[in-house]
Amino acid sequence: MWSSRIAFIAAATGSAVGLGNIWRFPYITSENGGGAFVLIYLACIALVGLPIMFAEILIGRRGRMSPINSLRELSTASNANRSWALIGVLGIIAGFMILSFYSVVAGWTLHYAFLYFKEWIGVGASISDPGATFSALLGDVGELTFWHGFFMLMTVGVVGFGVEKGLERAVSLLMPVLLVLLLILLGYGMNTGHFYDAVGFLFKPDWTQVDGAMFVTALGQAFFTLSLGMCAIMTYGAYLPANISIPRTGAAVAGADTFVAIIAGLAIFPIIIANNIDPGSGGPGLIFTSLPLAFGQMPFGIFYGMLMFLLLAVAAWTSSISLMEPATAYLVEATNLSRKKAALIVAGLGWLLGLASVFSFNLWSEVEIVGKSPMDAIDYVATQIMLPVGGLLIALFAGWVLSSKITREELGENMPGWAFSAWLWITRVVTPALILVVLGGILGIF
Ligand code: PFF
Repeated sequence: MWSSRIAFIAAATGSAVGLGNIWRFPYITSENGGGAFVLIYLACIALVGLPIMFAEILIGRRGRMSPINSLRELSTASNANRSWALIGVLGIIAGFMILSFYSVVAGWTLHYAFLYFKEWIGVGASISDPGATFSALLGDVGELTFWHGFFMLMTVGVVGFGVEKGLERAVSLLMPVLLVLLLILLGYGMNTGHFYDAVGFLFKPDWTQVDGAMFVTALGQAFFTLSLGMCAIMTYGAYLPANISIPRTGAAVAGADTFVAIIAGLAIFPIIIANNIDPGSGGPGLIFTSLPLAFGQMPFGIFYGMLMFLLLAVAAWTSSISLMEPATAYLVEATNLSRKKAALIVAGLGWLLGLASVFSFNLWSEVEIVGKSPMDAIDYVATQIMLPVGGLLIALFAGWVLSSKITREELGENMPGWAFSAWLWITRVVTPALILVVLGGILGIF
């Protein structure tokens, strides 16, 4: 049981805030032309993310078990089909797929932290041409594989060997530091003279750019960044004490996550524009090729760059733990493997699948799956399809299968009556309809 509301918020925010906010959000915003995309993304957070956040926490807290067992138990109690538990299986697979490439990208941040560390102690060259440094990394299979493995071991250390205690303390100390670093970067961005251009890029919608693909990407990002649709937040909800308000807590987590993404965007885009990089140039390398330009000019930039990439890796670490946990917990329950062995198996397989992402940039750079690189294809299927499908089923389950007596007990006591009714009908109708329309777009139905 979490000792308090704050402990739950810390764990859930640790899961939510990660590469999704500081790496993925800026680069897909860039690829989607800014303003209109950001507004659609914010709408997805409010109309899809928030209701599902409440739903996941309430299912977890009501069931008090692992997602699969909680869903099974609650279905039985509601006289519904027990196959609803398959939502948990879908989540395990999605989490595993995301873990595989997440660890590769987290490895990039470790590599950059190490580059700055070497420069700081005077044994490494400075990053004078960030584009070249990034290309060199992508071409170096050994380096990519090493840091990917290193990060996977960091994650397995927590999930399998239970070093949570230390981590919890480290995180409650380090995450605020990351926020301070982002705010300093924001201050730097404001001073570049291009802050208003960046605000314009991020918030001034150009509706002519909007197409179906943009909705799919924005919806996927809302799920990815809030850790929703794969029962990760549900897992944490199982440990939430009964007297704590789900709406307030869920809103705090979603709010903190959105705040970090927006601050990251406001900090990064002025730097991009000030360095004459096209803000729409996009690509997964965006922060790695732009931030070093700022670090090269700032006072104490080398030390700052080291700290920034290191803390980004820590933020990724607290997220990857929640990506690895569902598959590990399932293996422990379904077999007689110890937790250590189960976590090592998940990490080993995740590392192997991650090699497909590593090779996307070098050995397999010509390989295309549904018109995408292997890494993009894995990301696409997991983030843009599996998480929304998971979210859709979770919304339907919470809205229609669970009796409104149960949902009212879990949510209603901490919400005015009208707000509870609004949640119920949004979860029953609006959220599923929005997800269905977007997914229908993928299938070419609309
Ligand atoms: N929310 C994390 C991020 O934004 O980096 C990624 C993530 C973690 C997604 C856990 C899903 C999840 F279950």
